[in-house]
Amino acid sequence: MKNFQFYNPVRILFGKGQIAALTAQIPAGAKVLITYGGGSIKQNGVYDQVKAALADFDTVEFGGIEANPHYETLLRAVELGRAEQATFLLAVGGGSVLDGTKFIAAAIPFEGAEPWDILAGKAKVASAVPFGAVLTLPATGSEMNSGAVITRVSTQEKLAFSSPLTFPKFSVLDPETCFTLPPRQIANGIADAFTHVLEQYLTYPINTPLQDRLAEAVLLTLIEEGPKVLENPTDYDAMANFMWSATNALNGTLAAGVVTDWSTHYVAHELTALHGIDHARTLAIVLPSMLRYRQAGKLEKLVQYGQRVWNITAGTDEERAEATVQATVDFFERLDIKTRLSDYDVGPDTIRQIVQRFTERGVKDLGERQDMQIADVEKILTLAL
Ligand code: NZQ
Ligand code: ZN
Repeated sequence: MKNFQFYNPVRILFGKGQIAALTAQIPAGAKVLITYGGGSIKQNGVYDQVKAALADFDTVEFGGIEANPHYETLLRAVELGRAEQATFLLAVGGGSVLDGTKFIAAAIPFEGAEPWDILAGKAKVASAVPFGAVLTLPATGSEMNSGAVITRVSTQEKLAFSSPLTFPKFSVLDPETCFTLPPRQIANGIADAFTHVLEQYLTYPINTPLQDRLAEAVLLTLIEEGPKVLENPTDYDAMANFMWSATNALNGTLAAGVVTDWSTHYVAHELTALHGIDHARTLAIVLPSMLRYRQAGKLEKLVQYGQRVWNITAGTDEERAEATVQATVDFFERLDIKTRLSDYDVGPDTIRQIVQRFTERGVKDLGERQDMQIADVEKILTLAL
């Protein structure tokens, strides 16, 4: 096992009616900036519950944070937060609202001229306004991690940052807030969480049986519970199991002490940046080709994943690995998520564009062995056409 430090200070308030419990988690006298998305919280009663929980606080609101949150939009929230002297932020929504709020939290006290520097890796987060979250979409794990991914529309860039200062102080996970999710977002959430687990698991073995089994447990639970949620989004127990699985997929426990490979996410972000394809769908496009192209380096883990999660036991290791990738593709397709670039009308031009921007960005040495170069990315995307 590799050496590691594990730190996760997020208090989880899980279950029915828990929005009311957030009142006790916000410092008395705080000026609270409530952030939210395009309005789903106003239609499903979540907004009313949040307002009731904040009845004793001075509040101000910023709505309209879009999916794949825009830097340009978030800067307006930063302005509002500064003008109103907000001392606490409360994000209410999916991963985009939570990520956007992490950025707002870091950008309000930022002293440089251009807060994008936080995302471009040119400036560290020196302080952040404390914030909490009410999660309404199980998918990203943003509710229990310190990362965020932000899109800059003017340059079509989608970049990530993380800081120990941008963990939520608390996150409310009430499965009932997710009952109004449309099938497309539920499917996205399942595929995103599934891929988070695989990127921390499908590398090479270094004798970490506990982390492996924890990862397999999350995968198996998503395979079992995900379709139940799709079938009936008001099935409380299924939603609760799905929600907690998605949180556990990316709260740091699975990554502790193991070798990870985030190259699928890294490459897939470009497809959202350039074409606006939903995050989870870009993963379902890139992951299968990534696994096929790099089968040799991931062989032992692919065989283990196939055996323990999909009961694939026949054939040579290579045949089993291929059958395992195909089982993963079939799972995505059963969720009604297409897995090829051509399904989204994306062709070779986009591959050339990605190669060009990676070249400009000086991207190199991706993957668990830091041996994947831009030419490999080009071949992987070509396999996904
Ligand atoms: O904006 P509203 O009206 O709220 O509607 C949203 C949005 O249109 C809707 N929605 C959310 N909860 C709902 C609901 N509709 C009905 N009922 C509810 N209860 O769903 C739509 C999508 O929301 P969004 O927040 O964009 O989805 P998701 O949670 O999948 O977040 C995706 C973003 O997270 C980033 C992605 O890159 C993408 O920008 N990620 C963040 C990560 C992290 N912080 O660790 C890791 C991930 O890999 C990912 O990159
Ligand atoms: Zn993801």
